[in-house]
Amino acid sequence: MIKMVGIIGVGHLAGYLVEGLKRASPDIEIILSPRNQERSRSLATKYNAIIAENNQEVANSTNLIILSTRPTDSIAIASNINFHQNHIVISVAAGLTIDQLKPVITPAAIIRALPISSSAINQSPTLIYPDNLQVRKLFSLLGEVLILPEETLFTTATVITAFYGWVYALMDEIINWTVHQGIQYDIAREYVLKTVDSSVKMSLVQSEHSLAAILGTLATEGGITAHGLNILKQKNGLNAWIEALEAVLDKLKNY
Ligand SMILES: NC(=O)c1ccc[n+]([C@@H]2O[C@H](COP(=O)([O-])OP(=O)(O)OC[C@H]3O[C@@H](n4cnc5c(N)ncnc54)[C@H](OP(=O)(O)O)[C@@H]3O)[C@@H](O)[C@H]2O)c1
Repeated sequence: MIKMVGIIGVGHLAGYLVEGLKRASPDIEIILSPRNQERSRSLATKYNAIIAENNQEVANSTNLIILSTRPTDSIAIASNINFHQNHIVISVAAGLTIDQLKPVITPAAIIRALPISSSAINQSPTLIYPDNLQVRKLFSLLGEVLILPEETLFTTATVITAFYGWVYALMDEIINWTVHQGIQYDIAREYVLKTVDSSVKMSLVQSEHSLAAILGTLATEGGITAHGLNILKQKNGLNAWIEALEAVLDKLKNY
């Protein structure tokens, strides 16, 4: 059981993590860095977390630390903290490699993790590298933990956390279109989201079939699914998603 965790960098992600951790394990002690003051105070009040005086005090309070600062800030911030060899520092910074972090975090262990915002509702599939029992236990509180065998694959998989955001954009477009056709917003929202949810559940249940095979049973010749899919392909609608994935991968490799 994880009794205590420190978080340095109290921004959006930290908020999701605190909410999910406290729901899964109400007694877990969470020590927050003081910046940003407004956010750390509000999280401390709402979830009974403790605010440290400074980043070093977070590290002095617990061995397990999540470094949840922006990728461009993380190295400078970590270089001002003294870690010891019993520390486990979990970096959630997209694209920052263990080799980049090593000089400022040694002699502590460095683990990369990629929780997403659904941590707040304990539904985050979280990638970690390398495997670490404490880190696995921590993120198991927030959803399913997936361990990657190689760090290079971690950067590739990170792209999917951006895709997670684009799914909201796509669903929003579809909901807005449906509303524009005259269907009430609440009904449109629920109907579109539950349709997407059911497609995900069908895909997970039918794990022996590829998604292309499942789609093949839906997009029958002359039907409406095939008709719309052809237009998406003609307009490069699906290729545009691949181009976006490639662009994000390039950006991550250049952090
Ligand atoms: N958001 C997500 O869903 C998500 C998902 C996966 C991974 N990540 C990763 O998580 C990290 C944080 O992302 P985020 O979206 O939470 O960013 P964010 O909202 O900008 O949070 C970063 C926080 O770090 C604080 N900070 C800046 N300098 C600091 C310092 N010297 N000491 C302590 N804290 C400091 C910032 O305070 P100020 O506001 O005062 O500058 C801010 O509150 C990033 O590396 C990102 O790649 C995020």
